[in-house]
Amino acid sequence: MNRMPVHKYRPYPAVNLADRKWPSRTITTAPIWCSVDLRDGNQALVAPMSVDEKKEMFRLLVDMGFKEIEIGFPSASQTEYDFMRLLIETHLIPDDVTIQVLTQAREHLIKKTFEAIRGARQAIVHLYNSTSELQRRVVFRMEKKEIIALAVSATALVKTEAEKISETDIRFQYSPESFTGTEHDFAVEICEAVMDTWKPSSYKKMILNIPATVEMSTPNVYADRVELFCRSIKDRERVIVSVHAHNDRGTAVASTELALLAGADRVEGTLFGNGERTGNVDIVTVALNLFSQGIDPRLDFSNIDRITGVYERTARIPVHVRHPYAGELVYTAFSGSHQDAINKGMKALASKTDYWEVPYLPIDPADVGRTYESIIRINSQSGKGGVAYLMEREYGLTLPKGMHSEFARIIQDISDRTGVEVTASIVWNAFDAEYLRAGAPYSLAHCKIGQNGGYDNTCSVEISASVANRGNIEDIRGKGNGPIDAFSNALKSKFGLEFRLLSYYEHAIDKGSDSRAAAYIQIESGGRQYWGTGIDTSIDRASFKAILSALNRSNRAV
Ligand code: KIV
Ligand code: ZN
Repeated sequence: MNRMPVHKYRPYPAVNLADRKWPSRTITTAPIWCSVDLRDGNQALVAPMSVDEKKEMFRLLVDMGFKEIEIGFPSASQTEYDFMRLLIETHLIPDDVTIQVLTQAREHLIKKTFEAIRGARQAIVHLYNSTSELQRRVVFRMEKKEIIALAVSATALVKTEAEKISETDIRFQYSPESFTGTEHDFAVEICEAVMDTWKPSSYKKMILNIPATVEMSTPNVYADRVELFCRSIKDRERVIVSVHAHNDRGTAVASTELALLAGADRVEGTLFGNGERTGNVDIVTVALNLFSQGIDPRLDFSNIDRITGVYERTARIPVHVRHPYAGELVYTAFSGSHQDAINKGMKALASKTDYWEVPYLPIDPADVGRTYESIIRINSQSGKGGVAYLMEREYGLTLPKGMHSEFARIIQDISDRTGVEVTASIVWNAFDAEYLRAGAPYSLAHCKIGQNGGYDNTCSVEISASVANRGNIEDIRGKGNGPIDAFSNALKSKFGLEFRLLSYYEHAIDKGSDSRAAAYIQIESGGRQYWGTGIDTSIDRASFKAILSALNRSNRAV
């Protein structure tokens, strides 16, 4: 038996809409967006934004392409009044951007709102009153008809004030606040009463915003309510239906997407879902979800780090590292199998140009200004694919496949020992120490291949070299069917070594300014196999270094 008092709660009533259409529709275009960052977002901050911060946020929203921006309650807050005046008087509002201002249904507040917007080219006046059964009963203690009368008389006043300022194109928005707690029939009734007063037309529509002021149901039920509302409201062609979802159940994005299927034309929300309580719907996620489906979101996220930076600075709220599309870690794979798949996906992509198809990455990080550098990071969960990919991408070294697991084990040990994320430079230092500076007992001091540096008639090569053996420089000479064979033979005869060459790879390194080559050699010695690596401007010297690296590693192992 659960000790939590589950009996205190009851289910949200289902909507009777058996012939619902939204489940079989798809979203094909972006909605009209309205940012409420400077209002719902700002009013929910512990420390509201200063005027300078509001200006910075406003500029960001404009640059991103928002055409409708709610800037606050100028009638109720002096800062918001001053900010509105500043925007108008310093000509900060582009011609194609409309400022939205919110007001309660009270005479002096409506009048003050109109003072705030004087001189603006255009504005949306957004009127709201609460319509839910609960608020009517316990907060306002008003009958339905009184609530309707309040909305209607406030609308009439907005209309009168709007008619007085012919230089400003006023659009009107009405929100039956707490719509999700309002009976369907009553929501339609009050919205129609407001429409009858405002008298929208099909070429000058009004906005009816039906908010999930409190998110109370699964998104499908909200979608049913939106579809039912769109079907029921009279003169549908004269209204823009807008949604404004809060995130109390953590499903504001889904609710908004389903509401778009259900017929909503417009979405109010904020960057990263800032807003009252659990926040408003996150426009970044909704818009980039559209983008990932090949639908133009009509907002620009090509510099997501700027968006995150301005948001974090002005709202003083960090964006979560896992936040969809924007979080620090969302283009990072820690798991080895994911890293391997991403690596292969990237390679496959390089050979074709049409659609983005990389496992585990729904969008190309570059499209939002993020770089591939952060895609793969190494920790104790990473596998050989990730380590090899990192070596190739960061340092231009294409390790032979057979070497991947050996080197990955070395990295895994470091990760297990230190318990921290292994960065690219830690991986490089480990590679350098393990293979390139395997150093003792042998190292190459000098070498010469044949007298003429070429092959004789029997295709044999002669080599003379100086090799440091525990610090003593010793001259070695040998013949073979190529430089590697000759060098190996010289080592064997001078130092009495027994080993066999198993495999050999080489490639030019395209990272860095000098033209260097890398050689990888696998030997068998004492029944075990060892890889060695050498890097040099001469491929022969790189190969000799690789042999010595493998020998030194075999020596270390005994
Ligand atoms: O959440 C809400 O209902 C609101 C209204 C003012 C639209 O913010
Ligand atoms: Zn809200």
